[in-house]
Amino acid sequence: MTDSSSLVHDLLRLEAEALAAIAAAGAPAALEVVRVEYLGRQDGKVSRLLRHLGSLPVEARPAVGAEANRVKGVLQEALEQRASAPELMGPEVDSMSAADLTLPARQPWTGARHPVTRVVDEVCEIFRALGFTRVRGPEVETEWYNFVALNTPLDHPAADEQDTLYLDEGMLLRSHTSPVQIRTMEGHDPPIRVVAPGWVYRRDSYDPTHTPAFLQLEGLAVDEGITFVDLKATLAEFARRFFGEDTQIRFRPSFFPFTEPSAEVDVKRIVIRPDGARVETDWLEVMGAGMVDPAVLENVGYDPERYTGWAFGMGTGRLALLRHQVPDLRLFFESDMRFLSQLGGDSA
Ligand code: DAH
Repeated sequence: MTDSSSLVHDLLRLEAEALAAIAAAGAPAALEVVRVEYLGRQDGKVSRLLRHLGSLPVEARPAVGAEANRVKGVLQEALEQRASAPELMGPEVDSMSAADLTLPARQPWTGARHPVTRVVDEVCEIFRALGFTRVRGPEVETEWYNFVALNTPLDHPAADEQDTLYLDEGMLLRSHTSPVQIRTMEGHDPPIRVVAPGWVYRRDSYDPTHTPAFLQLEGLAVDEGITFVDLKATLAEFARRFFGEDTQIRFRPSFFPFTEPSAEVDVKRIVIRPDGARVETDWLEVMGAGMVDPAVLENVGYDPERYTGWAFGMGTGRLALLRHQVPDLRLFFESDMRFLSQLGGDSA
């Protein structure tokens, strides 16, 4: 016959043993092993001990049963508490407990204009101060506006499929912003002073100084008595205002079907070394320009005996390269925030 005091004694021993095992369990799986070992229905140590209850005298059974229930309750609670201990919770809570709450908060991203967009706005602002209005035209154009009206016959190499991205039925993605010259002159009489920024598209390479799509900016001035001197003086003044007082530009003779004479305009590239020294390097071509060809004026119904004008088309990405001393146009297309935010920004 089992006596009740030795059963209670064994229960208390199991309780202490189980509490120690629970405290020592270092992982949820180990804790489950402990639970099954002590509280398992069939084979748990507490259940096994209670099988001896039947051999106790009837009047001794309730007290031992009550003690057994108390021990089960204590162990159950200890198991639950241990399960929610930080070192037994998943990795998420783990890293939370490792978080350094003294780290400075991350700056919220407030948004900014892209560096090339800022250049476009700045160029337009400089020309606004010189009396020019900002206008725009469609990116899908007809052959008439993109080529023919600009004195460029369709058998000219520029109209070739090698260079131009054609759509259906004589439509194309404009290869330059010059068609906005035609649209402006068709809609208005002289005097004309406009700048027209916008996207243009070509079958071009993707390299440090070329991209198949880029933001070009057209300029046009038409009036009585306009000469090449006005063109040179205006562009030199623009370069000084955009790049700084001592900026050098040069005109090289060139050819465009819609200007006569024509020029290509280069800006001297200046590199600031880490020690702050300014080093002049190569010339970078930033625009084409020239006197509007009389045939173009005739195409829009202007009298070329009375009116003359000049025009230019500049690559704004290249201006941004010079402005920020960035070596590769492609960086402007990659939308890498670390790069873009290095160029400064605004919250416009
Ligand atoms: N449209 C020319 C191009 O995309 C650039 C250009 C040259 C524009 C001379 C002009 C100009 O207005 O006068 O290459």
